[in-house]
Amino acid sequence: MIRLKNDKQIDGIRRSCKLLSAMYRELIPMVKPGLQTIEIDRWVYDWIKKAGGKPAFLGYGPRKNPYPASICVSINNEVIHGIPGKRKIREGDLVSLDCGIDLDGFISDQAVTVEAGKAAPELRALNKATAECLYKGIAAVKAGDRLLQIARAVSAHAKLGNYGVVRQFCGHGVGLELHEDPQVPNYPHGSNPRMVKGMVIAIEPMINLGTGDVEILEDGWTVVTGDDKPSAHWEHTVAIFEDHSEILTDPLD
Ligand code: MF3
Ligand code: CO
Repeated sequence: MIRLKNDKQIDGIRRSCKLLSAMYRELIPMVKPGLQTIEIDRWVYDWIKKAGGKPAFLGYGPRKNPYPASICVSINNEVIHGIPGKRKIREGDLVSLDCGIDLDGFISDQAVTVEAGKAAPELRALNKATAECLYKGIAAVKAGDRLLQIARAVSAHAKLGNYGVVRQFCGHGVGLELHEDPQVPNYPHGSNPRMVKGMVIAIEPMINLGTGDVEILEDGWTVVTGDDKPSAHWEHTVAIFEDHSEILTDPLD
């Protein structure tokens, strides 16, 4: 069931999104070689709490194995859902950050991939192309059109660079819960509802230097590329109105 949001609810989701992007603007310059990923998580937890929100990812998921952190930190061949820990960021790493805030019951979701220090040209190109995929997808958002237009736009752009598109994980409805209907794939498959006024969706291309195949590690969370090649991930929360769409999160690129 797709939960459509009224203007008041969208105002609340927008506030949550602006807070999340403000957090990222402080965090991104700190993502440098030598930083331990658990330090990122602690900083994010404290920042969100101080700002009056709740980390939306912390404790999310199955009761047996809930996500244990406030932010996902996924490095190089890790695609999404990397769990912060002792690992230190190294020069040239591609560091994908994915975080959400619950502010007064309104949920935001945004991801960005940061290059730590000076990254190799092929990694920089992958990262740039992935951000472009996100904006191509957003440009395809239009009330009255079908949702898989987004997937077509994202995958067509990825194809230009010969990149792999992750098909096993998707974007999603968001706003009142972290993961709502509909699924928002980056590759055309599955249900194809019409986009309508009041929908709020997270669009999040996960683009690989190699193939789009992925695996999940023993921890039950970390998604890695099947061929160990690097991956990038960018995400915005987007609201659909009758005659326009609005990116509720702020640009970080
Ligand atoms: N933004 C992530 C996604 O949509 C949410 C991470 S799942 C969590 O896939 F458990 F870490 F919260
Ligand atoms: Co998401």
